[in-house]
Amino acid sequence: MSESVESAGYVFVDPTAYADEARFESACALLRREDPVHWVEGEGLGFNSFWAITKHADIFEIETKHQIFLNEPRPILGTADDDRRRAENGDLLRTLIHVDEPEHRNLRSVTSEWFLPKSLNKLDDTLNGLARRFVDRMLEFDGECDFARDVSMQMPLNVILSILGLPESDYGRMLTLTQEMFGAADEDLQRGADPAELMAVIQDFFAYFTTLTEARRAHPTADLASVVANATIDGEPLTMMQTIGYYVIAATAGHDTTASAMAGGMLALIENPDQLARLQADPSLMATAADEMIRWVTPVKHFMRTATEDYVLRGTTIKAGQSVLLSYPSANRDEDVFADPYTFDVGRSPNKHLSFGFGVHYCLGAMLARMELKALFAELLPRLRSVELAGEPALMKTVFVGGLKRLPIRFELSPHSPDTNN
Ligand code: HEM
Repeated sequence: MSESVESAGYVFVDPTAYADEARFESACALLRREDPVHWVEGEGLGFNSFWAITKHADIFEIETKHQIFLNEPRPILGTADDDRRRAENGDLLRTLIHVDEPEHRNLRSVTSEWFLPKSLNKLDDTLNGLARRFVDRMLEFDGECDFARDVSMQMPLNVILSILGLPESDYGRMLTLTQEMFGAADEDLQRGADPAELMAVIQDFFAYFTTLTEARRAHPTADLASVVANATIDGEPLTMMQTIGYYVIAATAGHDTTASAMAGGMLALIENPDQLARLQADPSLMATAADEMIRWVTPVKHFMRTATEDYVLRGTTIKAGQSVLLSYPSANRDEDVFADPYTFDVGRSPNKHLSFGFGVHYCLGAMLARMELKALFAELLPRLRSVELAGEPALMKTVFVGGLKRLPIRFELSPHSPDTNN
């Protein structure tokens, strides 16, 4: 049975749709073709209506018009109740993704330098060390593991702990934070949807991060937490809300996202053995391969913007006060931009994917995410003698961030890289 344009629009509010790749992709292809600026009516369904934007060029256009299309008051799709609560009480936490100019520019400038290549390059040894550690740990699984749970969820969290300068004993706490704050709507991942539970998690983190801020103010170190704790805007220190918002986004934004790209990248290599062999034979393709994995998976499923004035897009008027949902996965399969968009090509160049968004809110950690992927696969692939699926992979149910929650693999791995002696 062929799907109608109207029902296709509902994939964006249905967490199960994202867990069914074929259904999601065909709905997006239909919308791109038939109704690229599509009104999704939420009346009676528990969410506020919005325009679903599915073409690459349109998402690009909206992201560059950041004076007209604001992140406030609705940066992410939630229920109508969530939207009402936020309008009445404000955000529980205000982070970079919740604010617009000029607050956004000021806040972003606090760490933008820290995320530039010249600073991040200092992390090379740390990333390579972590990649070595997690690939070595695969040896302990005796030829079979769940790559999503055992490898790809682990490494990005350790990177975050390391850049924030937190001890490994706080690993479990950071995992809870990511899962509760930016959680998928997936029962396997035990996310707390209850606002009271969420409030308790936030209070716990307030206490934790307040202590961290005080410690870094008393004894500054070289980590990101020290940069945030000691930052000033117009001569004033950041408010506690801004400081904690910063830690929270640093701790959460780079976790599920990068983990999803790693697991999805692994699956793409298993399903495309010619591309795996090509990358193993020519490691100089690692940079284009990492970007292709990020396009292929598109871990962030959307962000939203709200129009401050009427705006005509492709002949359709988006009225002041209406919201648009930017569908990054759809943009990344847009036939007008990508040759063979459904082909996984480790040498794809150019690769103008929108997985990191675009414009003033462009992902601050884009470079770091790429470095993590390159470090992991540069360690793993030369040692990987064989790999195949050992069970059914499963995707998370989510409407915001996610990818594979399970990737059972069977593999043969050499104990160390063929060109090293240790
Ligand atoms: C493959 C991994 C990742 C993906 C796909 C991703 C994707 C995104 C996207 C789509 C946005 C919003 C862009 C927009 O609105 O135009 C964003 C923002 C952001 N990301 Fe990432 N991200 C990833 C990894 C990371 C990492 C490793 C970090 C750092 C720890 C990070 C930190 C941030 C921050 C701080 C923002 C907010 C920027 C702002 O609003 O100015 N991300 N990311």
